[in-house]
Amino acid sequence: MSNTEVNKCPKANMPEYAFIGRSNVGKSSLINTITNNKKLAKTSNKPGKTQLINHFVINDDWYLVDLPGYGYAKTSRQTRNIWAGFIKEYLMKRPNLVCIFVLIDVRHETQKIDLDFMYNLTVNQLPFSIVFTKADKLGKGRLESNIKNYINKILEIWDYAPEYFVTSSTTKQGRTELLDYIEDLNNSEVAQSIKSQLY
Ligand code: GTP
Ligand code: MG
Repeated sequence: MSNTEVNKCPKANMPEYAFIGRSNVGKSSLINTITNNKKLAKTSNKPGKTQLINHFVINDDWYLVDLPGYGYAKTSRQTRNIWAGFIKEYLMKRPNLVCIFVLIDVRHETQKIDLDFMYNLTVNQLPFSIVFTKADKLGKGRLESNIKNYINKILEIWDYAPEYFVTSSTTKQGRTELLDYIEDLNNSEVAQSIKSQLY
């Protein structure tokens, strides 16, 4: 199901995981990698491809959600200012949102827009993890040092760093780790209580 209105999203009766991050970071590609379905989420080499909140039902058991990217100047003001409009509304109003995956291109240093976004998640007590994308684009040494630097920057701001994953949609690196993590969360008390709610 695809739309821009939280009220029209599917029933909040299963645990939900959302992929968010800068435009072109690889959200839709990673959703396809995770589900082993090249055509599920629409991808493009031009930023601004995903424009709606897209719910995918996985195994009749949980939702995977593809969201529009933020920080792309040529789209509406709403997608430039991420903490506004329907994306904010969506993040704040889905009681079944178990974890938000914030995608970061592993080639880049920390950027204000991502840190601001994570700050907004923190102050609103929304749980998130970091997913580094496009790991195939760096050699081993550079990959490790970029991740270390990124997490160190996070630790300059917060007392602890969130869980993080290193992924590539090209090599499928990190796919199993992400799926295992989601499975663990699906078995958690929080997720079980979401499934037992009556709708
Ligand atoms: P928007 O919907 O526009 O916000 O973008 P998105 O974050 O969904 O990105 P999308 O998955 O459409 O991918 C953007 C571009 O990056 C495409 O050209 C992809 O092929 C490429 N890409 C995505 N993931 C990877 C990756 O792991 N490795 C490499 N090399 N390229 C990738
Ligand atoms: Mg997309």
